[in-house]
Amino acid sequence: MNKSLISEPYSLKNKSVTFKNRIVKSAMSEGMASEKYLPTNNLVRLYQAWAEGGAGLIISGNVMVDTKALGEPRNVVLENDDHIDLFKQWAEAGIKNNTHFWMQINHPGKQVLKGVVDEAVAPSAIPFEPDLQRFFPKCRALSPEEIEEIIQRFANTAKLAKTAGFTGVQIHAAHGYLISQFLSPRHNQREDKWGGPIENRFRFLSEIYHAIRARVGDDFPIGVKINSSDFMKAGFSEDDSHFVISELERLGIDLIEISGGTYEKAALFGKNAKPSTVKREAYFLDYAEKLKEKTGVPLVLTGGFRTPTAMNEALKTGATDFIGIARPMALYPDYPNQLLKEKVDDLSVKPIKTGLSFIDNKGLMEITWYSQQLERIGRGKSTKPSFSPLLSLIITLFKNGKEVFQKRRV
Ligand SMILES: Cc1cc2nc3c(=O)[nH]c(=O)nc-3n(C[C@H](O)[C@H](O)[C@H](O)COP(=O)(O)O)c2cc1C
Repeated sequence: MNKSLISEPYSLKNKSVTFKNRIVKSAMSEGMASEKYLPTNNLVRLYQAWAEGGAGLIISGNVMVDTKALGEPRNVVLENDDHIDLFKQWAEAGIKNNTHFWMQINHPGKQVLKGVVDEAVAPSAIPFEPDLQRFFPKCRALSPEEIEEIIQRFANTAKLAKTAGFTGVQIHAAHGYLISQFLSPRHNQREDKWGGPIENRFRFLSEIYHAIRARVGDDFPIGVKINSSDFMKAGFSEDDSHFVISELERLGIDLIEISGGTYEKAALFGKNAKPSTVKREAYFLDYAEKLKEKTGVPLVLTGGFRTPTAMNEALKTGATDFIGIARPMALYPDYPNQLLKEKVDDLSVKPIKTGLSFIDNKGLMEITWYSQQLERIGRGKSTKPSFSPLLSLIITLFKNGKEVFQKRRV
């Protein structure tokens, strides 16, 4: 084994921010907030476990910018400072052990399942693919005034995150949520300044970036999670993605995280990945390699990484600067410590399959099964890698009824 590059520190350009290593715990929506959408003791315990687990940076599950725009019933929402102390406790747990802890901030737009919100909004009133329409409420197009209000909400939440002690924020512009809908020509068919060519479709994200920067100052890191592509016909393409990332670099973005896919195409979980991709582990490595030829922006590549060999190789070739990891961290909160010691032989992270194809094909069990593991860590219990997916499904259905699959999101 060559020198371990994952253990090398990294300093952000023009910031006094140094990450102790190259491992990033990627966002996983926890569904563990209180009934008032606030951080709970279990959430604090979960993040303390991750902070102790050794990653250089941990990113929270998506925190919503508006109580009226939830993605799932137990999302955390941060829209005012009424309970800022609870957010301070959460931040304090996540920055232990010299760890950076960033809050991911999000608005679901129309990608919210029936029963969770009264009304879904989107850049344009375009429904999902026919096979998904029964899960989602009808959506309506946002007015220009509403767009401006949402931009300010992102900025407000970011400022509150900074006040609470988070060491950065990540804007969720991937996976088919509102920002990703604005970026996509398939979902954004507006004829005003927010739609049309990619320069216009990017405007919503760039305005959010500027509004946040104005509120948090130049020294506070801002990241963006973005798709390499939506993998949809007439959707957000690799060329669009290159354009957006180059522009964000020009604006001074501190960190870009690469993922891919949406509810409609679950590429983020490696669904339909080519055998050559599976061999190199990371689902979006080819894309990252091409991107790095054109930009110098600091990158986190997320999706599929499992072994120190593949991680070190991706760092060595310069395809990425950081390794993003999600599902293994739900099973092994100290996975980064194991990676740094190169002792991960018995890692059992495999596709979660119930044997029921209509469920397995959508990648729904990846969310449900791993969320149950997060809950266990939050309750102070050990995780259960051998937990049967079918049993997980039965328990979920028994507890929540069939609507549960209409309420989980990524
Ligand atoms: C339970 C669960 C919840 C997730 N929630 C989010 C989220 O809130 N925001 C986000 O950007 N990605 C979310 N993801 C996607 C992960 O961040 C990551 O992109 C994906 O799991 C692929 O990485 P992995 O192969 O290391 O798991 C979630 C994934 C899982 C399993």
